[in-house]
Formats: sequence, structure tokens, C-alpha cells
Amino acid sequence: MPNTVFSTEILPDGNACRYDPPRDPCIIVILGASGDLTSRKIIPSLYQLFLLGLLPRDCAVLGCARSKLDTAEFCSRLKQGVLEAGADMSRWDDFSDKLYYHELVYEEKFSYGGLAETMEQISRTHQTGKNSLYYLAIPPFLFETVITLLGQTGLARETEGCWRRIIIEKPFGSDLESAVRLDGILGNFFHEQQIYRIDHYLAKETVQNILAFRFANSILEPLWNRKYIESVDICALETLGVEHRAGYYEKAGVLRDMFQNHMLQLLSLVAMEPPTQFLSENVRSRKAKLFQALRPINTESINDHIVLGQYTEGALEGHLVQGYRREPGVDMQSLTPTFACMKVFIDNKRWQGVPFYLTSGKRMGEKQTKITVQFKGVSRSVFRNGMMSSDSNNRLTFLIQPREKISISFRAKNPGPVMCLRPIDLEFCYDSDREGKIDAYEKVLIDCLKGDQMLSLRQDSEELCWAFLTPLIEDCEQCIRTESILHFYPAGSSGPVEADKIRLNK
Ligand SMILES: NC(=O)c1ccc[n+]([C@@H]2O[C@H](COP(=O)([O-])OP(=O)(O)OC[C@H]3O[C@@H](n4cnc5c(N)ncnc54)[C@H](OP(=O)(O)O)[C@@H]3O)[C@@H](O)[C@H]2O)c1
Repeated sequence: MPNTVFSTEILPDGNACRYDPPRDPCIIVILGASGDLTSRKIIPSLYQLFLLGLLPRDCAVLGCARSKLDTAEFCSRLKQGVLEAGADMSRWDDFSDKLYYHELVYEEKFSYGGLAETMEQISRTHQTGKNSLYYLAIPPFLFETVITLLGQTGLARETEGCWRRIIIEKPFGSDLESAVRLDGILGNFFHEQQIYRIDHYLAKETVQNILAFRFANSILEPLWNRKYIESVDICALETLGVEHRAGYYEKAGVLRDMFQNHMLQLLSLVAMEPPTQFLSENVRSRKAKLFQALRPINTESINDHIVLGQYTEGALEGHLVQGYRREPGVDMQSLTPTFACMKVFIDNKRWQGVPFYLTSGKRMGEKQTKITVQFKGVSRSVFRNGMMSSDSNNRLTFLIQPREKISISFRAKNPGPVMCLRPIDLEFCYDSDREGKIDAYEKVLIDCLKGDQMLSLRQDSEELCWAFLTPLIEDCEQCIRTESILHFYPAGSSGPVEADKIRLNK
């Protein structure tokens, strides 16, 4: 019997925590299944869901790619990835009975005829019916071709009550124009309800908890506005460099890689208006409304709003690491930014005048993703004359990586004979134990299997984010301009010092 940790009714007083696992029979078709994402993330996550009893009973996984492999070789590769993820292997053989491999030439239409036949055969063996979930685990330049050929061969069509869904990992295009084109191609064959534009960051427990904290607690919502909040900091810092992704990163840079998706999505969760109900379309509409309210950054005042950086050689965790321009595959004169700090304003009643600072960088001194909400000081406080410092004003922090933790800093009396104040923290940590908790990719996959689009980016939001960023990216990318605004920072540091300056001018 599957060992599910999910209670169907956790709370005695209702169905709020009822969880029904996906039950629809289906085939999960992974395109690009010989790659890193499949062996490191998708298959270990599907296997974990299988162990937890959260995969539909009648389901199969079909990996497709150009590589010449048979199903046995494919399974043995995947087993390695699952072993490396430290999974309990006791039921691997049962799971691997559901795995298949099909050789696919991405650009050739007849190859998709073969794919359809293989899907039919698997469907008969596993009673999976016609429901299919396509996972595009291929490089983005192949998206348009593969989507078109899936569509032209009828593999996207929902007939006889079946569903056909498609998952696309970020990046969704590289600017507004390419995103609109990709959406147009998707729209030729798939309806919006079939499309899952995913960013697994959003499925992390603490990220989802932002909405729970904001909207389920009466002590926060009355304070969540310009009257009480001084500023909001959202930062996603990595210690890793560009690794083996220079080909992609040289063209993307930090603004495309991190801001169009992770950073603006985190911003939307912190700043959006309450949805009328916790339902995916309500939440997605609130996000779109928030993106509409982003104040465009005028290219004349761009230096007051954005600081770009690129890492140079430096010491990280006791080792000397090379600068970006010396990484394999990177141009020695590269002007690609690996760091950005951006000051953003939201033009609505709630947030008028409150700066949101978005910061992301590679090869930073520490790996950390966190959101800090800085509250204003107490007006006309009774505690004056050096009894408390202004930098200990209340602060709410959502730490997303490396540990998932939420903390609120308060002021309290220092023990002793005098009334002197000190900051103290109240903390809520997610237990490192897996019990009851699922990984971000597992959450994304079960949502797609269930047809829940809450965490998937809707077309209008995706295009609004590109519309906000594209003029800035284009302005920053003009060669002479980049040279003048790109600041170098040593690996292992906290980024270019110039980033602090944009905080000074409101
Ligand atoms: N890896 C991650 O952690 C990660 C995280 C977030 C998003 N993503 C996105 O997810 C997708 C898959 O990532 P990945 O890391 O698995 O990619 P990958 O390993 O570079 O590529 C996946 C597969 O695509 C095929 N492929 C690669 N280059 C090709 C080319 N030039 N022409 C035709 N086929 C090619 C290869 O399969 P065959 O040669 O066998 O066909 C390869 O095994 C990408 O869009 C990536 O941006 C990945």
C-alpha cells in the first residue's frame, strides 16, 4: 500500500485541509527527457509522489528525446538520479514499470506520429486513457517547434472528455516580443486552461505562506500599507557562478534570468490586493492587477533605479574563484550583468511612495532568498532620548532559502535596572523533517495533474512583466551605456557598493 502522509481531513471542524490526490489516469510525456532537469528534478519528484501515494493509480511516464536509448537504458540513467537524490529505493522497481522511452526528432513531423502510436500502446497497457501532460524539458529555442508539431499532429486536442496540458519552465521568451510570439504559438493549439507556465520557486512552502500570513491573520492586513510600511526588500542571492550555463546566461543576464519571473512574482505575493477567495483565477487576477500598477522606470532616471554588476575574481567559502569573464564559454569582454538591484514603485492607494528593492546576484557571499518588510517607527514614541535606535524598528522577514523561516523582530525591555530597549525575534521555522511537506517540483507536478493553475503564470501577467522590464533591459544593453552602468564586485562580496546609493534618493 502507498504510504501517504496526507490526511484527507486534518481539521476536525471542516474540509479546509482536505486534500484529494490527483486521480485522473494519464500519461506524463517529458520532451527532452535525456537532460539534466529530468534526471535531477522531474523523475525524483514523480518517484517521491509515487511513494507518497499521490500519483494517479493508472499513470505512466514517457520520456522522449533524440538520444539513442532504449527503455532499459533510460530507466537505469534515471535510477542513478533518484539514488543521488537520496530517495528510499524500496519501490523503485514498481515505479520503473511505468517508465518508457521514445526516440523523437523534435523538428520532424512524422516523428510525432510515432510518438502518438507509442502513447496509444502505453495507454492500452496502463489504462491511462487519453489524458496527457506534456513537460517541455528542452532548451527554449525548441519550444515553438515542439509546440507547433504537437499541435499539428493532434496531440494537443482535447477530445472525448480528455484533458491535454502542457508545462513550460521559465524562461518564457526573452523579451516582450518573443513572449507574445510564444504565447501566440501556444494559443494556436492550447487554451489558456491547458497551459502551465511554471516557476518552481513559487511552490516553496514559505512562498505560499506569504499569502497565508497576509490574509489569514487580522494583525497584519491593517498594517500592510504605506501608512505603516517603510520599504520592502526582496533578495535572491546565490553563491554559485554561471556554472555550465554560459551559452544561455551570456544572452540572458540577471534581469531576464531572475527578474522577469522569480523577483516580480515574489513582489506580487507581497503586494497584491486580497483576492475575493483563495481560488486560482482570483489570485491570478490580483497578480495581473498588481503588475499593471508597476510604475514604469523612465530611462532618463534609470541610474536612480537600477544598479548592475558583474563578479570578478574573489574568495568564496575559503576558495579563490574566477571572475565571470574567465568562466568557460563567457566572452572576455562580456558586459552581461550577474547582479542587479532595482528600486520599484507601485502606483496604487496601498503602496504609493513605498520603495520595493529587488536584488539578485551570482557569486555573492551567501546563498539566501528572503523578503524583508520594514515597518515605520512608532510615531511620538514614549521611548526617546537614546532608549531605542531607529534601525530596530519592527521587521517581518520571510526567509525562503536556505532554511524556510518566518520571523518578526520586536522591541522589548533589556533585563536589568534601567528601561532600555533591545530587538528580539519571534521565529517560525519549517521543520526539516519531510513529514507532511512536499518539495517545490512535487507540488508543481501534482497541481498540473489536478488541473490547479494557482501557481502557474497567466499569459497577461507574463506579458505585463515583460512590458515593464523590456525597455529597461534594452536600455541597459546598449553597449556604451552598459559600460557606464556596470559595476564590478568581487566574488564572495555583497555586490557593488553602488547598490546602496539607490536607497538614498527617494
Ligand atoms: N536544469 C535545471 O535545473 C532547470 C531549471 C529551471 C529551468 N530549466 C529549463 O528546463 C529546460 C530543460 O533543462 P535541462 O537542464 O534539462 O536542459 P538540457 O539538459 O540542456 O537539455 C535537455 C535535452 O534537450 C536536448 N537538447 C539539448 N540541446 C539541444 C540542441 N541544441 N538541439 C536539440 N536538442 C537539444 C537534449 O536531448 P537529446 O539530445 O537527447 O534530444 C537534452 O538532453 C530548459 O528550458 C531549461 O531552461 C532547467
